[in-house]
Amino acid sequence: MKIQQRIRVEFDYKIYFTHDLFNPENIILKEILKNKQSKVLIFLDSGVASSWPDIEYRINAWFDAHPLCARITSSAILLDGGEQCKNDFQSYKEIAYALRMCKLDRHSYVIIIGGGAVLDTVGFIASISQRGIRHIRIPTTVLSQNDSGVGVKNGINFFGVKNYFGTYTPPYAVINDFDFLKTLDIRDWLSGISEAFKVAIIKDRSFLEYLVSSAKDLAGQNIEVMETLIMRCVRLHTDHIITGNDPFENGSSRPLDFGHWSGHYLEIVTDFELRHGEAVAIGIVLDMTIARNRGLVTEDEYDLVYRGLRDCGFTLWHSALEKRNSGEYLCVYYGLEEFRQHLGGKLTLIMPDHLGHSCQINSISYKEIEQAVYEVKNHFYEIGKW
Ligand SMILES: NC(=O)c1ccc[n+]([C@@H]2O[C@H](COP(=O)([O-])OP(=O)(O)OC[C@H]3O[C@@H](n4cnc5c(N)ncnc54)[C@H](O)[C@@H]3O)[C@@H](O)[C@H]2O)c1
Repeated sequence: MKIQQRIRVEFDYKIYFTHDLFNPENIILKEILKNKQSKVLIFLDSGVASSWPDIEYRINAWFDAHPLCARITSSAILLDGGEQCKNDFQSYKEIAYALRMCKLDRHSYVIIIGGGAVLDTVGFIASISQRGIRHIRIPTTVLSQNDSGVGVKNGINFFGVKNYFGTYTPPYAVINDFDFLKTLDIRDWLSGISEAFKVAIIKDRSFLEYLVSSAKDLAGQNIEVMETLIMRCVRLHTDHIITGNDPFENGSSRPLDFGHWSGHYLEIVTDFELRHGEAVAIGIVLDMTIARNRGLVTEDEYDLVYRGLRDCGFTLWHSALEKRNSGEYLCVYYGLEEFRQHLGGKLTLIMPDHLGHSCQINSISYKEIEQAVYEVKNHFYEIGKW
């Protein structure tokens, strides 16, 4: 005898785009929280706190102006921003402790204000506390507004592996306030742009052409161009999650991970000296080189992507790519094996099938990688530098 179970769970969340979120006249949070008097605990990225010294005052003023709208249970919990947050056992404990001390339950809300690392860490701990406390994301970097913050995943690093622990837990809502981007330093501003290139290369050639033609404006931190980039990029990411038939990535294919297998390796091997987006930009160039050598993209298509990334200001080479182990093999090759394990079985990599389209491949030989690394280095010293 057997009993067949089929459970369908729907997720429904809105992604808002706004300015000046904590102005009492801005009622987005009210629309989300309604008048439920649920408990709310706020986590704040230290980078945001130091760039916006009055933010706590403004948050409190907003909740004072909307007294029916939820109850803040303590002052905001400050967390060290950046990758350290995802690496550090102490930060996981602090988050869990705060949730416990403030007695948050499954009807409460966690509001997370910060970059991708803080969103990932708090989102993960909230998702496993009380079997899931709802979280509202307020992403404050380019990468978190156009990619990580609007998707369904979270994760922390463990055993020296990126995102080893994590869950697929969609947010309750996402609010992208573009004003936060004004205080990003140039590296964090740039970092998210590589995720826009990634998705454009495999899904939308006209968006890619927009990025390339806007590269100098992006390098100059033009906020209007960035707003357009973020909205188009969010649309591509979310369309993929909705229409890709595999929102929780049960299959082996990860279309949104183009350029990421070596990117993750570079982050780890440089001890996170390279930002996620900086590493992904180099990963994209490595994969574009392999794609060109296989005839999947033309020389002109390769040049378009390279020029675009370079003109945005990315450094498209890192010496960690040519690091070798004691057997004289390039260590980056082992990034492929790590990625295979991450996928859970069969290696499936997304490659462009000319720009704007993608295909899957199931292997890359060591020789191909060695040749591509050699070419990426030479190209960088010939034309890659600004
Ligand atoms: N969950 C996902 O689906 C997903 C997808 C892509 C990337 N990620 C993860 O996202 C992380 C990278 O996120 P990121 O690029 O946002 O960087 P980050 O979170 O590491 O933040 C970078 C720096 O910017 C600071 N900062 C944040 N907002 C600021 C602001 N408005 N003004 C001034 N400083 C500010 C932070 O304090 C930090 O020092 C990586 O851990 C990556 O693995 C997750």
